[in-house]
Amino acid sequence: MLQKPRGTRDFLPEEMEARRSVEANLREVARRWGYREVCTPEFEDLELFTMRSGAGIIEEMYVFEDKGGRKLALRPEVTAAVIRMYVNEAKVAPKPIRWCYFADCFRYERPQKGRYRQFWQFGVELIGADTAPADAEAVMLAADMLDAIGVSYELKVGHLSFMKNLLSGLSPGVQRKVMAHLDKKDFEGLAVTLEELKKPDLGTALKDLVACRDLDGAFAIAGNIPDKERFDQTISLLDAAGVKYSFNFGIARGLDYYTGMVFEAFAANLGAENQILGGGTYRLAQLFGGDDAASCGFAIGFDRVIVSLGDIGRRKEPVVAIICTEEGRRRALAVARAFRDAGYRAETDLMERGIGAQVTHASKTADFAVIIGKRESESGEVTIKNLQSGEQKTVTLDAAIAGVGSHGAR
Ligand code: HAM
Repeated sequence: MLQKPRGTRDFLPEEMEARRSVEANLREVARRWGYREVCTPEFEDLELFTMRSGAGIIEEMYVFEDKGGRKLALRPEVTAAVIRMYVNEAKVAPKPIRWCYFADCFRYERPQKGRYRQFWQFGVELIGADTAPADAEAVMLAADMLDAIGVSYELKVGHLSFMKNLLSGLSPGVQRKVMAHLDKKDFEGLAVTLEELKKPDLGTALKDLVACRDLDGAFAIAGNIPDKERFDQTISLLDAAGVKYSFNFGIARGLDYYTGMVFEAFAANLGAENQILGGGTYRLAQLFGGDDAASCGFAIGFDRVIVSLGDIGRRKEPVVAIICTEEGRRRALAVARAFRDAGYRAETDLMERGIGAQVTHASKTADFAVIIGKRESESGEVTIKNLQSGEQKTVTLDAAIAGVGSHGAR
């Protein structure tokens, strides 16, 4: 029997319904904040990602050559593609630009619970506003989205400048290596790297910074940062808006393009792969041939959010099975149409089963059976049976539709 590729998943209808309903909630929040959806290709020139996204992601990419010998990659994330599109299509659009996307991404990672090779992100990018209110908006929107879908999470806000201050004496390559250890919370690896560098003091300072939970403490450990005023203003806007967050100056982010404020959210009820959102400020436009537009954005790990929500994300809607004799088939179509017009999910028999077999089938697949037997054909009424309670009555079609509406699904 053929199987799906490693790290990918199939989604059965129940799962898809849950996913679509969470997606719709996220879309609605994005809409209310003025973010409009964009779509970019699933594959891009490899160069788009190798230019800036960091060594980690390059090793994790699905890379291939097409028949014309072009080196391409399945997108491991969407930010780089969105900024490429901004440079190609919307450079002159009035700023700021508020865009969002819902897209699958591909990373060649070791699959485990919450970590897949194909996964979906709901992301937003705020392009062309180089200000504290813009940074604050991104964090507020992130919190609003997670609140709207009802996931329980902790939001952590940090700033890369503190860490960069501590690492300022090191070469860019070594800085990246240290930050990659911190991003993966690989403190053993970090200790080895620092040992090689013969910088024990740096190890202590980094440990203190990672453990630090207040802004004054971070300044005391890492010194002043160039964008202190902006970060202070961002934080005061978040406080004024009542956003619940804590500081974490150990956030390093896995992708290389971040420049200042960074933030991540973690779900309370997930295991090792509990990061459900990540983002921050970055500059990519100039690298792709555009202006030096400052941007801020984030992406929600949609699949992790779905796992975290469990049954909460599932919408239940009643299924109505229209059951008829052979003679009643034409009327059954009209009755099904009336239920559908009223917004219900109505299914008719396609297997040419007898009434009894249809009821047995319906008891496994539906919440209500609407029966059009000989008696009902004569009276012009229908019999509606609640398949959960077994209660049934013969009523007019309108009364049957109203009856389904008052009960809900199992
Ligand atoms: P990221 O942190 O690499 O950031 O990914 C965002 C989220 O995608 C993660 O927090 C996680 O929930 C989810 N995720 C990542 N890898 C996997 C995986 N293998 N399986 C399941 N879920 C995964 C970005 O991608 C940035 N583009 C976010 C951003 C937007 N920054 C600025 N704008």
